[in-house]
Amino acid sequence: MNLTQGGPSGSPCFMRPSQGRPVHGRFSDSGILQRMPTVQHASRDLMTIRDLSRDEIDAMLDAAAAFRPLSDPAHRTRTDLAGATVVNLFFENSTRTRTSFEIAAKRLGATVINFDIATSSVSKGESLVDTIRTIEAMSPDAIVMRHSSTGAPAFVKRHTGAAVINAGDGAHEHPTQALLDVLTMRDRLGSMEGRCVAIIGDVRHSRVARSNVYCLQKLGARVKFVGPRAFVPETLRNFGVELQHDLRAGIADVDVIYLLRIQLERQAEPMFPSGTEYHRLYGLNECTLRFAPEHALVMHPGPVNRGVEINSGLMTHERCLIEEQVANGVAVRMAVLARAGRRSDG
Ligand code: MLT
Repeated sequence: MNLTQGGPSGSPCFMRPSQGRPVHGRFSDSGILQRMPTVQHASRDLMTIRDLSRDEIDAMLDAAAAFRPLSDPAHRTRTDLAGATVVNLFFENSTRTRTSFEIAAKRLGATVINFDIATSSVSKGESLVDTIRTIEAMSPDAIVMRHSSTGAPAFVKRHTGAAVINAGDGAHEHPTQALLDVLTMRDRLGSMEGRCVAIIGDVRHSRVARSNVYCLQKLGARVKFVGPRAFVPETLRNFGVELQHDLRAGIADVDVIYLLRIQLERQAEPMFPSGTEYHRLYGLNECTLRFAPEHALVMHPGPVNRGVEINSGLMTHERCLIEEQVANGVAVRMAVLARAGRRSDG
C-alpha cells in the first residue's frame, strides 16, 4: 500500500449533513480511505461505542491500522482533511487525548484550533450553548469535545453542523480510548473473540471502562470488573460482566489486565484510606502479576498513579503496553477524523 499518495481527486467537500450542503474544508477520497472496508457509516459523529455496530468497529480498527505507517516522517504527506478546520474543545484537562487528536488531524492536513478554556469567555461565565454558537459561527468542520457532563457532546451536536467527536463525557463514555485499547489488544492477541479482559479499579467512575466493556463485548470478548466494592458495586452486573473483589482470583484466567486510574476528581470524598493501602490490595506489581497467566498483557489508559494502580518497575515490563496504547491513539484518531470527513452520500 502506498501511503504517500493522497492528493485531491475530484475535491469532494467536507459535508455537514444536518444542513444538507457542503461547506468549508476539503479532503481527498483517494488513498487509504478507498481501500478501507466498505462499511456505510450512519453518522460522521462519534458519540459512544454503544451506537456502533461490530462491523463499524472493525472498519475503524482496520482503518487505524492502515494509518499507522504515517507515524514515520517519510510518509507524512496525507491531505485527506486539507482545508478542514478541527476545533479541540476540552473543558477538562488532558495530555494524551488532546495532543493525539491534534497530531492526528495535522497528519491528515487539517488546521487545528485548540480552544483554551482558561483564557476563553467560559472563564467569564459564558454558557455552553453560547460558546458553541460562537464557535459554530466560525464554521468548523469537526469539533472534538471533552466535558465533565454526560451527554455534553450530544447536546453540542444540536447546535452545530460540524461533525462532533466525543473525547470523554463525564463518567459516561470515551469511545476513542476504547478503540485504541482494542486495537492494541488485537495486535497482540489476534481476534478478541473468546478472550477475557479484567478491568480493574475505579470502574464506577470510569468512562474508559464503559466504552471498553461495550467494545469488547461487541467483539466477542468476556469482561470482568475487579476491585473493591466501593468501585465495583453490584449494580455493575447490569453490564453483563462478572464481578470480582479479589485481585488474585480476578486475574487468574485473563488475557488482558486493564488497570484504571483512581478518579479522585469524581469522588465526593476519598473512597479508600490511601494509595499505599489500595496498592496493597489491588495494585499490580511483580508479585501480583504472577497470579495471572504468563501471556497476560498489562494496560492502563493513563495518566498513571505510579505505586497505586501499578508499580514503576512494571511500567517497562515487556508485557506492559502503555506506550503502544498511546501510539495507537494517534492512528485511531486519524481513522475517526477521516470518517468524520467522509461524504455522507457514501
Ligand atoms: C480519561 O479521560 O478518562 C482518561 O483517558 C483516563 C483517565 O483520566 O483516567
